[in-house]
Amino acid sequence: MDLSYDTLKNLLLNPNLSEVEIVRLLKSIHLNFTTKREDIGDYAKTEDLVSAYTMFYLPTNILKLPFVLNQLNQKTIEALKKTSIIDIGSGPGTYALGFLDYFKNELSESLILVDQSDSMLKQASKIINHFFPDFKKVHYQKNLDSFKSSGDITLFFGNSLNEIGFDKAMDLIEKLKPKFLFFIEPGTKDFFKTTLKIRNEMKKRGHSVIYPCPSLNDKCPLEGKDDWCHQILYTTHDPSIERLSQLLKKDRRSMPFISHFYNLKEEIVSNLPVRLIRILKETKFALMWEVCLEENGKIQTKHFEIPKKLLTKDVLKKFKNSSVGVEVEFEIIKKVNDHLWRVKLLGQDKL
Ligand SMILES: C[S@@+](CC[C@H](N)C(=O)[O-])C[C@H]1O[C@@H](n2cnc3c(N)ncnc32)[C@H](O)[C@@H]1O
Repeated sequence: MDLSYDTLKNLLLNPNLSEVEIVRLLKSIHLNFTTKREDIGDYAKTEDLVSAYTMFYLPTNILKLPFVLNQLNQKTIEALKKTSIIDIGSGPGTYALGFLDYFKNELSESLILVDQSDSMLKQASKIINHFFPDFKKVHYQKNLDSFKSSGDITLFFGNSLNEIGFDKAMDLIEKLKPKFLFFIEPGTKDFFKTTLKIRNEMKKRGHSVIYPCPSLNDKCPLEGKDDWCHQILYTTHDPSIERLSQLLKKDRRSMPFISHFYNLKEEIVSNLPVRLIRILKETKFALMWEVCLEENGKIQTKHFEIPKKLLTKDVLKKFKNSSVGVEVEFEIIKKVNDHLWRVKLLGQDKL
């Protein structure tokens, strides 16, 4: 999919905005996101602001979706394809477009974009009709008041749960009874608090987690600590989008975010994954990673010392560029102590 500046510009609600105007509008949106929380929704109010938001956040945020989907097991992916996906706070269709691009014509049910902003929905339909004119099962709605569905549902939030809030999200779960709950939200310490509330609620209700925690058998090892668990996607963008990010002085090559995926219906059995949660450092001889895993029913973090000499140059380069949040396959060489294991890294498929 071509998401370069020139292609997107023609698809904006206002295609006549100059680059200087787009940068000015984006700076005001960014200011709203970071400081003026009371005006948080303003960026969705005018066609110019929606156009500017779309130009920068759509082509960059969208990349987080395939990264997370690639971490899920095959059974989950197969089941996900057969659900109706409801994208709450869809904005300009960032993730709806991402789902269509990832699954192409394999999505068998509806894709429902919900946003309180008419301009966002108008923008989303302009973009989705351009890239996927033949996919007829897309719906654009301001709310779900008259929604009825007979099949399974995936309830998805993309950078919207932080605006909509925990209570409203729980109301939606009560109303829709989704099979899957999936979100990709800001990678902030603040949103991690909401994440823990959701995780604890899912655990209380007896549901299961598919990404990123090993299980819900135990509390999160970072709960109650001055720390938070988030993913970081290391990536690059089309040069025209890189230019925009330089003009804005906003780094989008390393994108922190928090994504979780829960199964609220029957269990999908899979191996308990071990996940990279922080790149600690690189020494002359080893990579040092922090991982999260479950051992004897207890979820804990451990430090992995990964000797470089056991990896070929090419494979080492791949592991060095790993994004945070990937699954780690390994063999234990030595348990140096309870917290530090020396390991050999295996598979590279999910990097
Ligand atoms: C930061 S944008 C995210 C857009 C898109 N999902 C993305 O990640 O690029 C949040 C969106 O949520 C919408 N929103 C906020 N509160 C909402 C609510 N209560 N109901 C529906 N949409 C809402 C806003 O209008 C906005 O379009």
